[in-house]
Amino acid sequence: MSESPRRPRRPSGRQAAPVLPGLAARRAAADAFDAVFVNGRPLEEALDRLSRDLDERDRGLARMIAATTLRRLGSLRALLSAFLEKPLPEKARRGETLLLIGAAQVLFMDVPDHAAVATSVELAGEAPSTAGFKGLINAVLRRIAREGRARLEADAVYDQPEWLIRGWSAAYGAETARAIARTLAREAPLDLTIKGDPQPWLERLGGELLPTGSIRLIEAGNVTALPGFDEGAWWVQDAAAAIPARLIHAGPGMRVADLCAAPGGKTAQLAAAGAQVTALDRSAVRLRRLAQNLGRLGLEAEVVEADAASWQVGTEKGGPFDAVLIDAPCSATGTIRRHPDVAWSKAPADIASLGALQARILRNAADLVRPGGVLVYSTCSLEPEEGERQIEALLAGRDDYERLPVLPGENGVAADWINAAGEIRTLPTHLPHEDPRRGGLDGFFAARLRRRGAPDAS
Ligand SMILES: C[S@@+](CC[C@H](N)C(=O)[O-])C[C@H]1O[C@@H](n2cnc3c(N)ncnc32)[C@H](O)[C@@H]1O
Repeated sequence: MSESPRRPRRPSGRQAAPVLPGLAARRAAADAFDAVFVNGRPLEEALDRLSRDLDERDRGLARMIAATTLRRLGSLRALLSAFLEKPLPEKARRGETLLLIGAAQVLFMDVPDHAAVATSVELAGEAPSTAGFKGLINAVLRRIAREGRARLEADAVYDQPEWLIRGWSAAYGAETARAIARTLAREAPLDLTIKGDPQPWLERLGGELLPTGSIRLIEAGNVTALPGFDEGAWWVQDAAAAIPARLIHAGPGMRVADLCAAPGGKTAQLAAAGAQVTALDRSAVRLRRLAQNLGRLGLEAEVVEADAASWQVGTEKGGPFDAVLIDAPCSATGTIRRHPDVAWSKAPADIASLGALQARILRNAADLVRPGGVLVYSTCSLEPEEGERQIEALLAGRDDYERLPVLPGENGVAADWINAAGEIRTLPTHLPHEDPRRGGLDGFFAARLRRRGAPDAS
């Protein structure tokens, strides 16, 4: 375990004055980075906890430093090993973190070099294990400020773990894998799903109306301060994540089960369309967030805490639901633009174990759909094992299901987001824009299946 750094002493009941401006933000960024690597925590959760006492500006800075370091980690590590004669000893691994966050600021952020260097050096002085490396950290970061740009790998594939690039090359071709890596090196825009008609909100929020109906903003800042948040007029949801629920064409009187529902983005879409929704999830904590989110939006659903791989209800009639949506737990490699920690917190073994869980949930869900009803299966993963292969396996074992292909133009879906089987396969390279900050989609897979037998759901 890492030792606890020596923190500036706080007079009781008072905030400690930071020695250097922005020091607390850098400390939170370094701690969050370590929480991802040492404790395997998700970045957002770590940042929420570690930047609680910071003002909004420092919170934003901490998030940006930690996310940029993770987003460019492969290249940063390669650069560091070129500038260090030998790696820092294991007991001083915090020193590597301070070098990485310092280099990320110098090379990729609009931060004065001296501020990036001085804060990393100051933070090194806070822990006995790194205090002896202050001189080295200072020298290496200054050298990176002088020579780093010229020595940086130009190809963004080096930013991502090799196993991911290999898998994407096999699935989509080497050129597309490279292009995906390039998009992952950038911050994603903010997409909102509007509860009703997007047009009036487009005017109030600014931004751009996407063909799929989402509103896209860039550099939006604190989302809770945007117009319409308090009124529950919209919720944050990547434009690709909003596609699967729309494939159901839900409406009043339709009974829909959302089997992996929390925190409720897709439940909200289904409920806003007027459907009678059962929102099921295994996690009580996440279901509480779902209930809060629906409360803010003024929407309702029946909430069930259960395991989607075994939950049964009224199956004697061949399943009680007109439609079932499975937004299955997955590796989330399609969301690396937004969550750069995912690239480093997942391993090939996770794809296999999640794939087994996805297959069990799919098999159980297939019994919950009435004859003629619709089953939509989606994952925010770029790995075919969690998407295309799951549907092939289900259809190989059940002749009461067939694909209901998605057609170009349906819900604004572009032809190149649909594979040969009529399934959605979005990539981060899709929806390109001349301003790269406004382009891209999360990587999503979604298949729509129909259970054979009358009556027809459509
Ligand atoms: C991708 S997230 C769902 C996101 C959600 N559909 C939305 O749009 O906001 C996957 C969810 O599956 C849940 N989950 C994981 N295993 C499950 C299981 N066996 N049964 C039910 N839910 C499960 C997780 O708790 C998580 O909330």
